Amino acid sequence: TLPKVYVTRKVPPDGVDILRKSGQVQIEMWDSDEPVPRLELLKKVKGCDGILCVLTEKIDIQLLEAAGPNLKVVSTMSVGFDHLSLDELKKRGIRVGYTPDVLTDCVAELTVALLLATSRRLTEATHEAKTGGWGTWRTLWLCGHELANSTVGILGLGRIGVAIAERLKPFKVKKFIYTDVAQRVELANMIEAEYVSFDELAEQSDFLAVCCALTPETHGICNWNLFSKMKRNAIFINTSRGGVVNQEDLYKALSTDLIAGAGLDVTTPEPLPTNHPLFSLKNCVILPHIASASYTTRNTMSALAANNLLAGLRGEPMPKELKL
Ligand code: GLV
Ligand code: GLV
Repeated sequence: TLPKVYVTRKVPPDGVDILRKSGQVQIEMWDSDEPVPRLELLKKVKGCDGILCVLTEKIDIQLLEAAGPNLKVVSTMSVGFDHLSLDELKKRGIRVGYTPDVLTDCVAELTVALLLATSRRLTEATHEAKTGGWGTWRTLWLCGHELANSTVGILGLGRIGVAIAERLKPFKVKKFIYTDVAQRVELANMIEAEYVSFDELAEQSDFLAVCCALTPETHGICNWNLFSKMKRNAIFINTSRGGVVNQEDLYKALSTDLIAGAGLDVTTPEPLPTNHPLFSLKNCVILPHIASASYTTRNTMSALAANNLLAGLRGEPMPKELKL
């Protein structure tokens, strides 16, 4: 009998087609845009050889126990892997696929859009325009901060950080700086970015983009210690994971104009409750985790996740395998 796979969400058609046409697996899918309820998920994974999941599903010890010893492959349709208990997966010899690279352009594009929306106060401006605030043209009304001659800091320099910098360069950025646990010489050379300490990054950045993975080491690193060292004109942008930010500290920094603004595509929790204090701030632009949301990219991610899963089940190298 064919290996059993559970697909935890209605994923874009390209991936589903690949699984179906392979003739290699028996597929069951939670055919909905809403996350599968946890208890249903725990039931459905029982006896599965493979799981194709999205980032709302925690693949933890409880789930792995529920799945049982047949499970060989977990393939996530995401570049982020903080929802996966890597230690537990490794312990069990379960291979993990993910979807880096294919979403880099799309995420970088959205990051630039969010950065400009925040620095040039676009959401505030459209709100004013349509609600009667546009009394006349005023000299300092809705003024923001420009990229020209600025210093852009990148916290965690990987493929996405490089792609963001490449897009920002034509806006006449003066200097790119970055910090990371180690120097990323090859990537840094592509964008002529200078390696600086965490504190220097905080002190020198006019725009600070968070591009690191969420790990125990990066959890909450964007906290008061960071915000209190930043420039008053600084714009903070996060398109990685909400968990890297201490939101109470960010709220304090924004509401006291310690920094000029923040653009967040990711929050804790997701969705962020509509009555959350961050939503009350004019200088905070919040998006509902859409950085990789283009039709092309989501389909490509879905296809890659499917191909990772199939390769893993065949015992072959995956197109994109996470090294555990
Ligand atoms: C999106 O956040 C992803 O990890 O792909
Ligand atoms: C702005 O529209 C200007 O003419 O300066």
